[in-house]
Amino acid sequence: MGRLLTTAGMIAATASGAQAWTGDAVTSDPYRLVAAVGVVLLYIAVSVLLAMRHAAGKHGADAIAATDSAAPVLVAYASQTGYAEQIANSTMRALSAANVPSRVLSIADLDNEALGKAQIALFVVSTTGEGDPPDPAVRFVRTVMRSPVLAPGLRYGVLALGDRSFTRFCAFGDAVDTWLAERNATRLFDAIRVNNGDPDTLAQWWQRIGEITGSAVDAAPDVAMSAWTLAARTPANPNNPEHAAFHVMLRPKDAAQAWQAGDVAVVEVRNDPAEVASLLDKLGLDAALQVEAGGRVLALSEHLMMRELPQSDAETVALARMSPALLLKSLKLLRPRDYSIASLPDEGGIALLVRQARRANGRLGIGSGWLTQHARVGDAIALSIRANSAFHAPATDQPMILIGNGTGIAGLRAQLRARATAGATRNWLFFGERTAADDFFYRDDIARWRMARVLERCDFAFSRDGEPRAYVQDCVRRRADDVRAWVADGAAIYVCGSLQGMSGAVNDALGEIVGAEMLQELIETGRYRRDVY
Ligand SMILES: Cc1cc2nc3c(=O)[nH]c(=O)nc-3n(C[C@H](O)[C@H](O)[C@H](O)COP(=O)(O)OP(=O)(O)OC[C@H]3O[C@@H](n4cnc5c(N)ncnc54)[C@H](O)[C@@H]3O)c2cc1C
Ligand SMILES: Cc1cc2nc3c(=O)[nH]c(=O)nc-3n(C[C@H](O)[C@H](O)[C@H](O)COP(=O)(O)O)c2cc1C
Repeated sequence: MGRLLTTAGMIAATASGAQAWTGDAVTSDPYRLVAAVGVVLLYIAVSVLLAMRHAAGKHGADAIAATDSAAPVLVAYASQTGYAEQIANSTMRALSAANVPSRVLSIADLDNEALGKAQIALFVVSTTGEGDPPDPAVRFVRTVMRSPVLAPGLRYGVLALGDRSFTRFCAFGDAVDTWLAERNATRLFDAIRVNNGDPDTLAQWWQRIGEITGSAVDAAPDVAMSAWTLAARTPANPNNPEHAAFHVMLRPKDAAQAWQAGDVAVVEVRNDPAEVASLLDKLGLDAALQVEAGGRVLALSEHLMMRELPQSDAETVALARMSPALLLKSLKLLRPRDYSIASLPDEGGIALLVRQARRANGRLGIGSGWLTQHARVGDAIALSIRANSAFHAPATDQPMILIGNGTGIAGLRAQLRARATAGATRNWLFFGERTAADDFFYRDDIARWRMARVLERCDFAFSRDGEPRAYVQDCVRRRADDVRAWVADGAAIYVCGSLQGMSGAVNDALGEIVGAEMLQELIETGRYRRDVY
């Protein structure tokens, strides 16, 4: 360990020397100077790490504990729904495979001391809400990011995950990047800002990790899709076609797979075959034409099933001038869609509750349309299971308040099933939908759990069943005294469902009931968790 600290001192000394030399001898242009210094620093950091890797290799890879608190490369993640966590774990595995001493840590567990032990910190952070940090980062923002501690010896890189459809794209990733720079840490490379998991941008991250390990890293290490079958599909609210939702059951084609309540199914989706046929017709192209794209030779129609299709006539006209190969090159692959898993592995498959979304042109949303209408029972569905530790179950001896609306009940069902299996009976469900007659998802399960006393309490807000309309947040507010008592008893609060309308309103209600300070404490201690979309 002493040797590693000495090495860190050497990096700092060499780096400052290199900066002075570059400025004097090569350029007076400040931009080129900064770029040159960046390259030199990265080179030095990588050289030292490779030397350490070599030394570590002498003792065997196993000599380096991946969770060693003194490991010089720290991979820290801030994740709301598990994607940043997944990439952080893959990053750690890539570093470990190359014998680079590293550790991975949720930002919830990261403090100045842990940061101070790292020579390189790689932050993988998503943004949630409306430009907000993920819940597990709230304590870090309040304490570490506001502390005056400087980190002059630290080199860092930020992978910011976000979505450009939100106004404040990658706002939290940017905040972490700026904060580290203001603490005098050295940026190894500009923050990599990823829009909706874009593979081309993500490849830049794996390239940087490859530079650190000294060997190429697969662009998507160990996030493999597995083969499932669409085993069954039933309407969940057949009398409510405007907001149709479906129970979808997927069974593994090969070996059974493991997951926990709170985990997410990441589903590879396909287009409506009629939309593909209509495009081919407009372009005058043969659906059966065999074309090579992305390393696979498939019928043109099959390739188009997997790609984002033009959304306007102008876009279609532009495509009409292209060869089939160029056409496929210019159309991006569809991004997979996330769905909260409603079942546990002992039920033999992944149960989803999927609401049909509509696009601006009136057609079904791509993913929800695929799962609820276009894919046929018996068809193959590719998916991966994403662990989402930020929504894993609380301790069995802790009371649990579960709050959700609409398809959010899916994530809560998995939690309740896990509680039933664990014999944890202090559970209180709040559920909101339109009408009890048509939209009471999982009614039978809930009745059974009430009978079996797995559900100590239930409150429902069926907004269209009475006047004035009451929603789940009104229900929570009405039970303020008891909610306060459950929280005083150590209850954890899990919220699942709509970002729009529900999660903010429930947050406000909880703030009024337990007080803003207590609510902050509940978030920081992991007793208030949200899986909203
Ligand atoms: C962690 C998590 C868990 C989730 N769990 C569930 C669940 O259990 N059940 C469930 O039903 N959903 C769930 N979702 C939502 C789900 O992932 C999808 O977002 C949802 O099914 C809609 O996707 P889609 O492909 O059908 O619609 P899309 O085709 O993606 O369209 C969705 C919306 O975006 C708009 N849109 C699409 N393309 C464009 C464009 N080019 N420009 C402007 N607007 C556009 C459409 O008008 C539409 O309103 C979850 C999401 C997350 C993040
Ligand atoms: C409810 C919700 C709110 C989001 N808000 C933002 C946002 O304000 N800005 C942004 O860039 N991305 C936003 N995103 C996109 C996420 O950052 C992106 O999906 C990311 O990959 C999620 O990573 P995670 O699973 O690690 O939380 C939001 C996503 C969801 C589901």
